Amino acid sequence: MCNNKNRKIRSFVRRQGRWTKAQKRAIDSCWDLYGIDVKNQKNIPDLFLKKQPSWLEIGFGDGENLYHMAKNNPHINFIGIEVYLSGIGILLQKLKLDPLPNLKISREDAIEVLSYNFTDNSMDKIFLLFPDPWHKKKHNKRRFVNKKNIDVMYKKLKTAGDLHIATDWQDYAEHTLDTLNKDKRWQNKSSKFDYMQNPPHRIKTKFEKRGLKLGHKIYDMIFKKI
Ligand SMILES: C[S@@+](CC[C@H](N)C(=O)[O-])C[C@H]1O[C@@H](n2cnc3c(N)ncnc32)[C@H](O)[C@@H]1O
Repeated sequence: MCNNKNRKIRSFVRRQGRWTKAQKRAIDSCWDLYGIDVKNQKNIPDLFLKKQPSWLEIGFGDGENLYHMAKNNPHINFIGIEVYLSGIGILLQKLKLDPLPNLKISREDAIEVLSYNFTDNSMDKIFLLFPDPWHKKKHNKRRFVNKKNIDVMYKKLKTAGDLHIATDWQDYAEHTLDTLNKDKRWQNKSSKFDYMQNPPHRIKTKFEKRGLKLGHKIYDMIFKKI
């Protein structure tokens, strides 16, 4: 096998997952309506007809939470970015039955899309819910929460916008808390500068339920861009 030393360290491994015919059909028939073609797209929030606040969910998995938030907040535009095509298919199947005009999806690497297809100060909230834990020491470098990605998310949020991160991995939570608490550009919204007890907006995600079954604790953190 060739070893490319210049290969980018990514937070994901491209995988198709179990791919049903119905998911493929949903992508074939609904992608034009909901999918974002990132080529020549300078600012994705401009794609929506209604100009209203924009929230982004990175790595939405099967899209259960993204769909819930978009359906219950028609006064907000939602953008989801996910590289797992089977998950995108599941979300599009739902949208086929119950269309939502305030939701769009990208299937590219979130950090590249954020860097090149959003103008600075364009997002009101960013959600990163149960990012891949990459819990083996040698894989820690793949974790989405790192300095470079935090800088990109900071730039794209509006002032006073929120970055909401949740994980069921204690060391990932501690690392996130430590990194963002030390970074004076952010204000931890928890009164004790740690975790949020009743996180607003979101519902339990698939990976959260999986973590709970394993007996993991859930850590929600919300940081405001100062
Ligand atoms: C552990 S899963 C969590 C899914 C969902 N948020 C949940 O809680 O059920 C993490 C997801 O993030 C996606 N992901 C990881 N890195 C990504 C990136 N750079 N851009 C887009 N999606 C990414 C993966 O494909 C995966 O579906």
